[in-house]
Amino acid sequence: MEKWKVFVTRKLPQKALDWLGEKCELEVNPENRILKKEEVIKGVKGKDGLLCLLTDKIDAEVMDSADLKMIANYAVGFDNVDVKAATKRKIPVSNTPGVLTDATAELAWALLFSMARRVVEGDKFCRAGKYKGWDPMLLLGMDLKGKTLGVVGAGRIGTAFALKSRGFGLKVLYTDKRKNELLEKELGAKQVELRELLKEADFVSIHTTLTPKTKHLIGEKELRIMKPKAILINASRGPMLDEKALARALKEGWIFGAGLDVYENEPEMEPELLDLDNVVLLPHLGSATEETRTKMALMAAENLVAGLKGGVPPNCVNPEVFE
Ligand code: DGY
Repeated sequence: MEKWKVFVTRKLPQKALDWLGEKCELEVNPENRILKKEEVIKGVKGKDGLLCLLTDKIDAEVMDSADLKMIANYAVGFDNVDVKAATKRKIPVSNTPGVLTDATAELAWALLFSMARRVVEGDKFCRAGKYKGWDPMLLLGMDLKGKTLGVVGAGRIGTAFALKSRGFGLKVLYTDKRKNELLEKELGAKQVELRELLKEADFVSIHTTLTPKTKHLIGEKELRIMKPKAILINASRGPMLDEKALARALKEGWIFGAGLDVYENEPEMEPELLDLDNVVLLPHLGSATEETRTKMALMAAENLVAGLKGGVPPNCVNPEVFE
């Protein structure tokens, strides 16, 4: 039996490549780097399926370079794929929801703790040989207990992030289109408007989906509403935050600090941020655990094969293709 031809834009956990390799004829980008668009176009030529990453921009031009039957994105976010264009061409697109929820929520907590307790500054201080003995005023951070946590977007990851606050004695506020019964029951969390959340919360963490409407959801106006002692965390998508406004806010002390895992124009970041101590910067590590990345890769592979078989992939983001 002839195997489906598949292009994989970057090397993924081997378990998933092995599984996929049994069912498909694979071409995997041999280099450990993000491919240029022309290279993706070259790669998809003659292929039935594409397994791509959040770093690959998959638009109409890419789709029209092949006769793709399925696009499986190796991420829960799929703003890198022009889903409308795919739907128009009857190509199902899938993502990897659920399997990275806890890893991403845990990373948001890592950022929050790093900033609140100045972990990165402390590490740098030690490595620079500056530690000369216990100091009552050295690198004072802030307590978590008794503070207010603001969760912007209480979907899967926002909910998991909020639930993980249970041991820390925080009051929880959240914004969302829908009432989150689980958070209200488990934590006594309160649904509020964004403005109220920004005004009241000591720690604000962004977990909404990036859409044209949520771009720059937090900009200068919003940053100025926040408390001067507040910490802002973003482990969702970079464009949700106006990075230039954030750099100013951090420099001029409108807020205490920030923890970022994502950037407006990845891998670039606002250069001013690099000179600031009150921001912790990570290279998009939200789902970066061995277990999670393997689960994501297997999920993407399963979606791909399901779509190639002509069925509705389990995590199809444009099921209208099948209507
Ligand atoms: C996703 O899956 O969207 C994450 O950003 C990857 O870490």
